[in-house]
Amino acid sequence: MLHDLTPLLLPLLVLPTQATAYPNSLFAPLTERETRGSRLSIGKRQTNSNGSSSSSPSNNVTTTPNESDFLWIIQDTYDATNFFQEFSFFNGSDPTHYVDHDTAFAHNLSYISYDGKVVMKGDDTNWLAEGQYRESVRVSSNTIYNGGLFILDTDRAPWGCGVWPAFWTFGVEETWPGGGEIDIIEGVHDNEHNQVTWHTNPGCTLNPSANFTGSIVKGSPSPNLDCTGGPTQPGCGITEWSQASYGPTFDAQGGGVFAMKWDEDGIAVWSFYRVAIPQDIQDGTPNPANWPTPVAALAPTTCDPATYFSNHSIIFDITFCGDWAGNSYATSGCPGTCNDRLIDPSNFVNASWDINWLKVYRRQTVKGVVSSATGLHAEPRSFALLALAAAFFVVPGWLAMF
Ligand SMILES: *[C@@H]1O[C@H](CO)[C@@H](O)[C@H](O)[C@H]1NC(C)=O
Ligand SMILES: *[C@@H]1O[C@H](CO)[C@@H](O)[C@H](O)[C@H]1NC(C)=O
Ligand SMILES: *[C@@H]1O[C@H](CO)[C@@H](O)[C@H](O)[C@H]1NC(C)=O
Ligand SMILES: *[C@@H]1O[C@H](CO)[C@@H](O)[C@H](O)[C@H]1NC(C)=O
Ligand SMILES: *[C@@H]1O[C@H](CO)[C@@H](O)[C@H](O)[C@H]1NC(C)=O
Ligand SMILES: *[C@@H]1O[C@H](CO)[C@@H](O)[C@H](O)[C@H]1NC(C)=O
Ligand SMILES: *[C@@H]1O[C@H](CO)[C@@H](O)[C@H](O)[C@H]1NC(C)=O
Ligand SMILES: *[C@@H]1O[C@H](CO)[C@@H](O)[C@H](O)[C@H]1NC(C)=O
Repeated sequence: MLHDLTPLLLPLLVLPTQATAYPNSLFAPLTERETRGSRLSIGKRQTNSNGSSSSSPSNNVTTTPNESDFLWIIQDTYDATNFFQEFSFFNGSDPTHYVDHDTAFAHNLSYISYDGKVVMKGDDTNWLAEGQYRESVRVSSNTIYNGGLFILDTDRAPWGCGVWPAFWTFGVEETWPGGGEIDIIEGVHDNEHNQVTWHTNPGCTLNPSANFTGSIVKGSPSPNLDCTGGPTQPGCGITEWSQASYGPTFDAQGGGVFAMKWDEDGIAVWSFYRVAIPQDIQDGTPNPANWPTPVAALAPTTCDPATYFSNHSIIFDITFCGDWAGNSYATSGCPGTCNDRLIDPSNFVNASWDINWLKVYRRQTVKGVVSSATGLHAEPRSFALLALAAAFFVVPGWLAMF
């Protein structure tokens, strides 16, 4: 049935082709499946309308300086119904003992909770001998992205002394950091401020005059604007101001939403604690142009996203001790040593992701059909297309399909 939609929806959209509209491939469709999904989503949006002439794709449209209009439409949804089919377990060598899929399920380190959360956690039931590694999980999305709007709704994110979790993306096609790395949620111990970090090839820097509310991570030199990643180069980071962005307070107030936008305007991260989640995110029609200033931003003027970021997989992990949590342990205020901390399972009861959903939206050009905020301003040639579309959208049989 989906194929039947295509001829009618095509005129509504200026569908990109890899060769013309997206020479750098940053926003290029990845697969036929995803392209089809996008068209379907546009159709779905229409079912909210009553079929009057206002059934334009959306009023949540942003206009670029060259007057192209675009909106964000759903590409992939990950939740209790499909998460563990769409993410693969990583169990390569690492000081943390990441387990494979079957072990993770057998040991209750990954499961869907009775209330529909995607749970991934470290082992919090087994006592270890000194020097033994604690079991944990690290998963990667099977789908690879070259841009998009990534939105995570999670009730809990892992924290605690010796715990180092992250929700991040990185380029899997090139030797790190060639494809770039974007750390969206990252912290250690019982810190209370999330840190957003980029790791790239040399040449990408943070523009301190970009608009973001966080503080640039100090370093040497301080502040460190160089995003180069390497054994001794930490990348460039921004620490969030909100105490509810990581750790005990984030979890205590019910978690929240993190959004990462990666497009030609650069890369930006927003975080919203539970009661502050924008309505458009809840409605499934996100428009970052309507959100407050991001907590962190990497401006395209000093770091071209198409040059430094490509072919990203989405990762969730929970590391114990390791580079960051291990090396910072002595100065963290946590008791004893990180290795001793690993022995007692009750130290890891808060090392858990309890995820409601992760959605990836892709940017869709709608030039010539709809203009910004004020609603419908169709040019004459577009009216015929809209009439066609509107007629189509009120066909009851079609609506019933959804
Ligand atoms: C349909 O929606 C339009 C715009 O929201 C509204 O003006 C109109 O009254 C609605 N018609 C019906 C039959 O609900
Ligand atoms: C206008 O800008 C958008 C993104 O900002 C770009 O994708 C599009 O190709 C541009 N259109 C023209 C006609 O230059
Ligand atoms: C990873 O898991 C596979 C089975 O899924 C197993 O054969 C392999 O030995 C594991 N690797 C490590 C390093 O544990
Ligand atoms: C996993 O959790 C279930 C339900 O909470 C419990 O019945 C089972 O014993 C647990 N298994 C392990 C290996 O901990
Ligand atoms: C930051 O925001 C202000 C006010 O919206 C705007 O005038 C300025 O151009 C922005 N700066 C950058 C670097 O985008
Ligand atoms: C546009 O976004 C607002 C929230 O910003 C939402 O209430 C509204 O339903 C959205 N409209 C459409 C047509 O998606
Ligand atoms: C991204 O992956 C595709 C498919 O593997 C590859 O053809 C392309 O060269 C990659 N892009 C970059 C910039 O590495
Ligand atoms: C886990 O979280 C609870 C609630 O904030 C807290 O009381 C407890 O001390 C935490 N435990 C650990 C080991 O961090």
